[in-house]
Amino acid sequence: MRLIINGRQEEIEGTEIGLPELFRLRKVRNPEAVTVELNGRLLKRAEIPSAVVRDGDRLELLYFIGGGGALPPGARFDTKAVHAGAPDGDRFGATVAPVYQCSSFAHESPAALAEVFAGRRFGHVYSRISNPTVALLEEKVAALEDGIGAVACSSGMAAITLAVTGIASCGDEIVSGRGLFGGTHALFGRTLPRLGITARFAGSADADGFSRALTARTKLLFVEALGNPGLETADIGGIARIARRAGVPLVVDSTAVTPFLMRPKEWGADVVVHSSTKYLNGHGNAVGGVIVDLGAFDWGGGMFPDLSPYAERYGELAFLARIRREVHRDFGACLSPMNAFLTLMGIETLGLRMPRHCDNAAALARALVEGGAVSVTYPGLPSYPQHALAARQFGGRFGAMIAARLGSRDRAFRFIEGLVLARNLANIGDTRTLVLHPASTIYAEFPEEERRALGAAPDLVRICAGIEDPADLVEDFTRALGRI
Ligand SMILES: Cc1ncc(COP(=O)(O)O)c(C=O)c1O
Repeated sequence: MRLIINGRQEEIEGTEIGLPELFRLRKVRNPEAVTVELNGRLLKRAEIPSAVVRDGDRLELLYFIGGGGALPPGARFDTKAVHAGAPDGDRFGATVAPVYQCSSFAHESPAALAEVFAGRRFGHVYSRISNPTVALLEEKVAALEDGIGAVACSSGMAAITLAVTGIASCGDEIVSGRGLFGGTHALFGRTLPRLGITARFAGSADADGFSRALTARTKLLFVEALGNPGLETADIGGIARIARRAGVPLVVDSTAVTPFLMRPKEWGADVVVHSSTKYLNGHGNAVGGVIVDLGAFDWGGGMFPDLSPYAERYGELAFLARIRREVHRDFGACLSPMNAFLTLMGIETLGLRMPRHCDNAAALARALVEGGAVSVTYPGLPSYPQHALAARQFGGRFGAMIAARLGSRDRAFRFIEGLVLARNLANIGDTRTLVLHPASTIYAEFPEEERRALGAAPDLVRICAGIEDPADLVEDFTRALGRI
């Protein structure tokens, strides 16, 4: 039979062929990430597995880079962490991602390059837009979040900036949870307003508060799953229901919990963002970020006129296509191939590291309570106000962050100075235990009132448990606490 594929006539054996079989014949690596137009009609993703093409049919295939994951269906978390986004077809049989440390990719003819640019032929053109090593990271994170695809970015802040500006424009509003990382608070409170996107805030556990903050201009809801450093647990299920009713997407920053503790898709979220700098990478050696579309939101619904042209062309991949082909490309916030490689390596052990991080944090939280800290906030403690919500949402583990108040800024400083194992630095999610005095560092630029509202009290120390032997950590923390 004769098919017209992307404008070119091709001979295929037989009188009809299923689309999955056609993709196999054409060696398409991630068929789930291909947008298919059959005789002028855009197919839904769910239609593709059973679609059949016949003699004379016209097919338009658009390739999206950063989706799929080339895994057996139903693979479980640790299997995905190891195998999703693995290189295939490498001529030397490489099992880990080769680092394509090059800025651009040559193609055999001007026509071929034009087709790759248009997305009608699979390939990469320029590493600001996509890169083979970075694409493997995108596949891995999309698989772990059970998303339809992902775009990796130069940092977590870039992921948040691009996700928001990929949805909202000048004159629009967003509603965000209050318990936010300082950088995100500054972005929503200062930088985005300069571009005409303004934020209203509600308590992250207060779904009704989100509902009250909605206006006709609201274009998205945003929460941090577990706020840094205030450690408020967001009511993702409740806020997702408000988002659904309002017809806007819910974007969840899942950095502090990772897909190991919670998959926001199961709670009704639409988009996940990560600072991969933290637990995904896990070793404190590469800054990065990722945006994942969970495939639940209808971007062509009319509420987002800027996204309509993408919805017409890319169907369910409209949002990611806009991110890849517009905001990510234009702001230039691309991830370096080397950082993607380091993050790919880190993710392979995420499922082994997270339980130890969480268990160590629980042990340290208990030791701080017993050692006489003025107050200890840890979602795993029965005294934590949203303990039941955190237990339900995070599958019985509570993350690795603890906020301890020690009575004064001086005592907080002396405590940090007295620690031997914990490193005093501005990061979370490292194999090493980390401590920070947020009020004098990340939050120093905010007025006192704002600082306290964000959970950065003057006597507060943020602790982020590593994966060392818990007995050594408890000894170190108990000794330091006893000396302040
Ligand atoms: C919850 C959360 N989101 C986003 C970010 C920003 O990530 P990055 O530093 O990779 O830009 C951070 C950084 O600490 C964070 O803790």
